Amino acid sequence: MEIRWYPGHMGKALEQIQDLIKKVDVVIEVLDARLPYSSANHKLAAMRWNKPWIKLLNKHDLADPAVTKAWIRELELPEGVRALPLSAKKHSDTKQLIKLCQTMAPKRGKPGFPVRVMVVGIPNVGKSTLINTLAGKSMAKVGDRPAVTTTTQMIDLHNGVVLADTPGVLWPDMSDQFGAYRLAASGAIGDNAMDYTVVGLFAAEFLMTNYPAMLLTRYGLQELPATPSDLIEAVGRRLGMLASGGVVDHHRAGEALLREMRSGKLGRISLETPESIAAKTPAQ
Ligand code: G4P
Repeated sequence: MEIRWYPGHMGKALEQIQDLIKKVDVVIEVLDARLPYSSANHKLAAMRWNKPWIKLLNKHDLADPAVTKAWIRELELPEGVRALPLSAKKHSDTKQLIKLCQTMAPKRGKPGFPVRVMVVGIPNVGKSTLINTLAGKSMAKVGDRPAVTTTTQMIDLHNGVVLADTPGVLWPDMSDQFGAYRLAASGAIGDNAMDYTVVGLFAAEFLMTNYPAMLLTRYGLQELPATPSDLIEAVGRRLGMLASGGVVDHHRAGEALLREMRSGKLGRISLETPESIAAKTPAQ
């Protein structure tokens, strides 16, 4: 089943983001640490012009730390790019980000010459959360509105850094359906664009291959079920997701498995590694 998702009117987004990138000193590209490849918009790479660039691996609290380390090595290969794992909800984590911005633009950061920074990324990676935490107050959520508006203001963070108050919103690449399934499993795609039964089965297969011990522990299983469908059945029984007649409701059970995976209840999980992307395999 194909996953199709077009988050809003983003026709002019790239153009507007391109304009704003020219005006800032450091770009923070927010990625989901669990799937740094599929949560990127790869058209951004053409807009770097050697600008200091931070690949922010957000939701680090949910990602497999060993896999994140491998991603950092991979993402930092191009000169002038730094990768930073972080949880945007944590104020203490975002302090490291400010320091990194200052290090990456050493000629700025002086009185009257603050480091100008902007945030870009696909929906749901945590851009608004990051801006709110950095600003120490609640800014408007841009949601799926067109990228950066002409009314973009700079917020003074009073530490030598000023930040564009609305992030640039870009779309993910839905032509890669393996990537689309991983995005759906992570929660990045609107629920109306996906089917819990199908994406639940995808997640079940992924977890059985890559994180079997977490499944055994969380669902009190003696051994792994034979198929992804059997796993959904076992999860449904365990969590009491039953339809009339006592049969498992696979839609609800799939949704429950996804919810538990997304919230970190199973443990810290990464959905792709540099190797799995290079090999174009659906799992690690
Ligand atoms: P966006 O602007 O890029 O669209 O993303 P946004 O900040 O709205 O964040 C999307 C979801 O990701 C929110 O959850 C937010 O709380 C969550 N999130 C952001 N950063 C982190 C992080 O570092 N770790 C974890 N675990 N979650 C993070 P939500 O359920 O949609 O909203 P809410 O109920 O939390 O408000």
